[in-house]
Amino acid sequence: MQVVVVFLLFFNPCRVFADQIIIVTGSNVIRHFARCDAKKVILAGRNVAAAEKAKQSIEKSTGRTDVGEVWELDLAFYASVKAFAECVSKLPRIDVFLENAGIAKVNFSLADGHERTITVNVISISMLGLLLLPKLKSPNTFEALDDEKNANMKTRYLTSKLLEVLYPGFVTRNWRLTPLFYEIGDCTTSEVGGRTPVAAATVDNGALRAFKAQNMWTELKEILEKILSGITRSL
Ligand SMILES: *[C@@H]1O[C@H](CO)[C@@H](O)[C@H](O)[C@H]1NC(C)=O
Repeated sequence: MQVVVVFLLFFNPCRVFADQIIIVTGSNVIRHFARCDAKKVILAGRNVAAAEKAKQSIEKSTGRTDVGEVWELDLAFYASVKAFAECVSKLPRIDVFLENAGIAKVNFSLADGHERTITVNVISISMLGLLLLPKLKSPNTFEALDDEKNANMKTRYLTSKLLEVLYPGFVTRNWRLTPLFYEIGDCTTSEVGGRTPVAAATVDNGALRAFKAQNMWTELKEILEKILSGITRSL
């Protein structure tokens, strides 16, 4: 984790987002998209007044007043997720959808039938992702990666590592795989890099059970289908 934080201190990403329509849940990220010339950044938040305040602060710091919009979204209610997705479906397209919002609760409470943290951080976020997926569908990932003219080989290794952990089935079959943060440790000397797979192999199996993603995905799909029948068909 510390490696990531240090990395971000020196690396302030600014791809050209000119003309792009971006949706962000959670606040401060939109400052960077506005700085990077995005056409429209929709800030989706539960607390509209707080989101408006964040928007104003961002307008002040970037000098751009035409970019941000605040849309209401409460991830503790599936109805709010559905309503939000319906509004998004009226946009001409989405270029980036960044699900950044989440909660961390210490006391147990329910939200729409499941423990609140799970409803917000897992069920609603998956639901929203699936509902917006048709709008985000881009050309085949592997075809795009095989396009020599547009290949960015400077980041290819990192891309390959990210793809490894993106697909639940793959992670399941290789569930003793080094977790992503261990991989980040690889960017040092080969001696230090060599320690990382060993460290990963020593992690208690109990902790790694979390990576048995396939079973969890099956269960999550059942929950999502109960909330909104047919939602996982777009996968
Ligand atoms: C959690 O519950 C305990 C016991 O009821 C309470 O004292 C505490 O304030 C609660 N914490 C939060 C963050 O709500």
